[in-house]
Formats: sequence, structure tokens, C-alpha cells
Amino acid sequence: MPDEPATPARKAHEHAELRDWPGYFRAVAGKPARETLLRALELFDKDAPSDLPRFAIDLGCGSGRDTFELLRRGWRVLAVDASELGLSLMTNEIPPEHAARLETMLSTYEEFTPRSATLINASFALPFCERSRFGEVWGRIVAAIPPGGRFAGQFFGDRDGWAALGDRVHHTRPQVERLLAEFVIDRLEEVENREAGATGIVKDWHLFHVVARKRG
Ligand SMILES: C[S@@+](CC[C@H](N)C(=O)[O-])C[C@H]1O[C@@H](n2cnc3c(N)ncnc32)[C@H](O)[C@@H]1O
Repeated sequence: MPDEPATPARKAHEHAELRDWPGYFRAVAGKPARETLLRALELFDKDAPSDLPRFAIDLGCGSGRDTFELLRRGWRVLAVDASELGLSLMTNEIPPEHAARLETMLSTYEEFTPRSATLINASFALPFCERSRFGEVWGRIVAAIPPGGRFAGQFFGDRDGWAALGDRVHHTRPQVERLLAEFVIDRLEEVENREAGATGIVKDWHLFHVVARKRG
């Protein structure tokens, strides 16, 4: 019998569309840290006083691509995710010399109360929050960042293709600006583009990439 044609492997976003986090973790294995995190770290290196505590919360850390980078740069990290698999894939890969600076927590965003953190990083994470709980979750994040601390991460825009799913959180640009009212914006990049999935189905992206410093 002739070989069946191989089914192309789904892309990360196709797993994320289905909230198939095990598939997502497979698809992003080995990927580097997000640009928003790298920008925030670069800015801290430039403008933060040397005694600013290098403590970050990586909210929705997944399998750890950003947590690895934070640890590599000497930060202490509380990595939070609702996926036990994500946390265990991450902890299995942590170099032993970094392990003492990492704390993990299995929690949803909705149940998590952050303690004070110089950086709260939430890469492609918060839009998956329960819609009715987003306001309180965001309020706790803002309250936990001290003056001079930063938020880094993404919000999904209202023209993103997933807005039609109705089960995740999307914002207009003025809404994003309102969320950031207590911050000085380091980077607010709005991106709209299209990405073909493994089988050619196209997804419309509308994203806000954010790095912002809490006002003093
Ligand atoms: C798209 S992944 C992003 C992971 C990682 N930050 C990255 O940039 O690749 C979304 C992550 O959010 C987590 N997640 C989704 N809903 C959640 C919730 N309500 N509470 C906590 N984590 C959640 C998933 O387990 C997954 O790891």
C-alpha cells in the first residue's frame, strides 16, 4: 500500500485556538523568549537602580520560554500556570544552578493574587482569562507592580479572528490605553497580519505588544 501522505503538524496558534496546551507546548518547544520580555529586561538594565529587586512573576508561563531567560539573567521568578504539564516540562529543563531562584505555582489567573513584583510578564497569556474575571485579574496585576516596575505581554485586539469565538478577552486600542493608564508606555505596538495554519486555514491576528512602566 502506498504511504498515507503525512498530516502537516499543527502550528502553535492552531493548538492555542483549541486551548490544546499539550499540543501548544510541543509546537513551541525550544523557542526563545518573547520580544516583549527581552525589551523589558533591556530597559531595566538601562534605567533601574541597582538595588531594585530582580523579582518577576511569569504569569501563564507555559513550558517556560520566558522563565528560562529571566533565570539566565539572574532574576528570581515565580512562574504561574494552570497547566501542570507546562510547569513540569519547564522544571525538568531548569539548569540546576538556577533552580533555587525559581518558584512555581499551579494556579489559574482568576484564583491568583500576585505579590509585589518588579516585573509581571504575561506573554500571550491574559486573553485566555475568563472574560467576566478579566477586570479583577488585571486590577490585581496593576496593584502588584510597584512604581518603576513593569508589565510586559500581549493583549488581543477586537479585530483578531478569535474574537468571534467569544471565549477569550479582546480589546480595542482605546481600551488597551485605559488598561495602561497607570503606566508610562515603553512600547505599544499594534500588529494586524494573517498567518496560514498547517492546512492553509488563515488566522487573522490583531495583537497589542506591550511593555510599560508603572508611574512613580
Ligand atoms: C498561549 S500559551 C502562552 C505560554 C507562554 N507564556 C508563551 O509565551 O508561549 C497560554 C498559557 O496560558 C495558560 N492558561 C490558559 N488559561 C489560563 C488560566 N485561566 N489561568 C492560568 N493559566 C492559563 C495555558 O496553560 C498556557 O500555558
